Amino acid sequence: MNVSTVTDGIFRLSTNVENILFEGLWPIPNGVSLNSYIVKGEKTALIDGVCGWDGVPEELFAMLDKIGVAPESIDYVVVNHMEPDHSGWIEDFKKIREDFTIVTSKKAVPLMKSFFDVTNDIMVVGDGDTLDLGDGRVLAFAEIPNVHWPETIATFDTKSGTLMPCDAFGSFGSIGEAAYDDQLSEEQIAFFENEAIRYYANIVAAFSLPVQKAIAKCAPLPIKIIAPGHGIVWRKNPQKIIDDYIRYASYQKGPCENEVTVIWGSMYGNTEQTINTVVRELEQNGIKVHAHRVPEDSWGDVLASIWSSTGVVLAMPTYEYKMFPPMAAVLDELGRKKVLNRQAFRIGSFGWSGGAQKELDEIMQRHRMNWSFLESVEFQGKPTEEHLTLIKERCAQLAQNIKDAVAAK
Ligand code: FEO
Repeated sequence: MNVSTVTDGIFRLSTNVENILFEGLWPIPNGVSLNSYIVKGEKTALIDGVCGWDGVPEELFAMLDKIGVAPESIDYVVVNHMEPDHSGWIEDFKKIREDFTIVTSKKAVPLMKSFFDVTNDIMVVGDGDTLDLGDGRVLAFAEIPNVHWPETIATFDTKSGTLMPCDAFGSFGSIGEAAYDDQLSEEQIAFFENEAIRYYANIVAAFSLPVQKAIAKCAPLPIKIIAPGHGIVWRKNPQKIIDDYIRYASYQKGPCENEVTVIWGSMYGNTEQTINTVVRELEQNGIKVHAHRVPEDSWGDVLASIWSSTGVVLAMPTYEYKMFPPMAAVLDELGRKKVLNRQAFRIGSFGWSGGAQKELDEIMQRHRMNWSFLESVEFQGKPTEEHLTLIKERCAQLAQNIKDAVAAK
């Protein structure tokens, strides 16, 4: 864990988590940071927690000593969000002080009791409520439901203009000594931008409409610093991460960028024979291509690519009269995340009969994905030169359709 100063009277406590599946599901090859904030007035508040840290209380006491905060002076623990990566610290915090007041939303209260069996005072806050810490420091609260659970609130320090929105404006990626945008090079910022879209696509994507509402609600605030629960703190240019999140939310319904995500699976190398043609033709037509093989690549990788892609190519064999199962699984997940309105093209190989198209249609309808498909190219066994020529033509058409859609947005 490390501690640093965000601004006068606000401190960031953070730890990195690596080598886990985030939410038990998503690979995080570059790790993730869990951030907590201490806000100091005459009274002191801890905003969100840092779970999975076994240095409580000794190491924490040393950290607090560094920043001149007496552990027993922490009167309030503000729980913006009940997901245990942030709230799971409450048990540990009891080792520091038992009689703290929990500040959270009304919707959080039942889960708070279920998860932690709390007997502490709970101060329920919602839109427009404030908490005066003294010394001119007033925290204001805003409900931002479904960013990322229904109970979520954001905390705004009116004295410094620091917004602490928990999951919103967050990113994956472990953080070293430099945790602030004003301490990072352009290359490092680009790294966290990539990690932000992976995080958004994996964790927040399904709630893009609530994200837009949350941004609209926070827009009138005089925000000078954005200090999220994951990722770097934005104090030089907080508008950048706001603009990025506006863009990410817009990707749900598309059009997105001049990019295609190729998702492919192959049993014996026949479908695989089409992939080089697909990638080459799209790139020659000015399209950036992300290619993922299933089941080898994770859903997280596929989602991170497809979220910014206006186009999709699906290439897979038929399997037991249906679609190659890992392709069906990843498409179902794309439907749950509401990846909508993509320009698409399917390539299929079969041995004895088709069946993939029927299942594809079912998935598209079930999730109302509204993808626009070019006519599929299917072949029995392996593709011939004629099939590859047809695939080239379709990919050129797909590239044009994507450019037209992006130009018209
Ligand atoms: Fe970082 Fe929804 O928890």
